[in-house]
Amino acid sequence: MGTFDDILGHGESLIRNENALDFDFIPKLIPHREQEQRQIALAIKPLLEKRNGRNMFIYGKPGVGKTVAAKHVLRELEEKHDDIYAVYVNCWQQNTSYKVAVSICDQIGFKFVQNKNTTALFQVVARIVNEASAVFVFDEIDKVEDTDFLYHLLEDVYRKTILLITNYKDWISELDERVRSRLTAEQMEFKQYTPEETASILRDRLSYAFPEGVWSDEAFNIVAKKAGELKDIRSGLFLLKESAYAAEEKAKRNIEVEDVKNALSKLDDFTIKNSEELEDETKFIYNVVKENSGKKIGELFEIYQKKGGKSSYKTFQRKIKKLSENKFIKTTKSMGKGGTTTIVEKKLTEF
Ligand SMILES: Nc1ncnc2c1ncn2[C@@H]1O[C@H](COP(=O)(O)OP(=O)(O)OP(=O)(O)O)[C@@H](O)[C@H]1O
Ligand SMILES: [Mg+2]
Repeated sequence: MGTFDDILGHGESLIRNENALDFDFIPKLIPHREQEQRQIALAIKPLLEKRNGRNMFIYGKPGVGKTVAAKHVLRELEEKHDDIYAVYVNCWQQNTSYKVAVSICDQIGFKFVQNKNTTALFQVVARIVNEASAVFVFDEIDKVEDTDFLYHLLEDVYRKTILLITNYKDWISELDERVRSRLTAEQMEFKQYTPEETASILRDRLSYAFPEGVWSDEAFNIVAKKAGELKDIRSGLFLLKESAYAAEEKAKRNIEVEDVKNALSKLDDFTIKNSEELEDETKFIYNVVKENSGKKIGELFEIYQKKGGKSSYKTFQRKIKKLSENKFIKTTKSMGKGGTTTIVEKKLTEF
């Protein structure tokens, strides 16, 4: 046996399929979202009959399955219909019309994007997609800095369904009138799961990720209860994984209550959303906050610059505000000698 086998005891992981605990894993079935997926499918249906589809505006609290349900529908569409492009854009990462255009081109197989501006890229998109039809999902739509890309698609692409997804119900009412009147989106809310639904979703994930019998009912119930209280499936997935690691560290073959307790103590450090999804600059700023929690915004900016940050103070402030709005971090106003300032902290989950 090698060194690592010794450390792990039997050289085996308790987790059979670690991917199944990732936030972006798409299960074969999405329980408790059948109705919502059906609504989305109905909006897309006209495309199958070579007509123009309908558009939807989807909103709801974090972790209620908006992304996973939309991706699941896209996947099904891709499997069954090769004459419809299925495009998914995360607007945290692609937050300008230009970046959105490049991402769409990439997904529809157009590679020659160099030296083309946004308008030229959308001409290409329209030319290609108008040979067929397309479903465009713009997730985290509130993160975009401009919405010109929506205008381009609405004007120039004939047969499409556009799905916009966000946490903010009001986002659409602030949308540019030119775009909104063309969009005429049907609105749909994803409601929060009940504690029972949360438990059943996690139980389902358990069967993808773990061999049968490694979880005691008692241990699993603590995870389900906590995730139910927090109304947050992501915390549940986090706890499932961390509990398994805790048990593995002790070379155990089962996951027990003490392992879950161990994992619960780590939940503090865990941010609700997946910070992997942040675009690079925001992620950089987020890490500066995490390492220097509790400092004034001006001090943070200095640290950020010392670490090689290039944005202006205004941009820095704007990104801090967005991170705070999206609950990655917490900001509070404080009165000091020189007037009010903002204190920036990393976010702790309520516990
Ligand atoms: N009905 C469900 N069945 C299986 N897994 C689910 C279900 N709902 C949510 N999940 C899982 O919970 C996590 C959060 O879901 P998802 O990413 O879809 O949330 P969201 O509504 O898009 O949240 P946010 O607004 O924060 O982006 C994901 O890992 C997802 O796979
Ligand atoms: Mg999402």
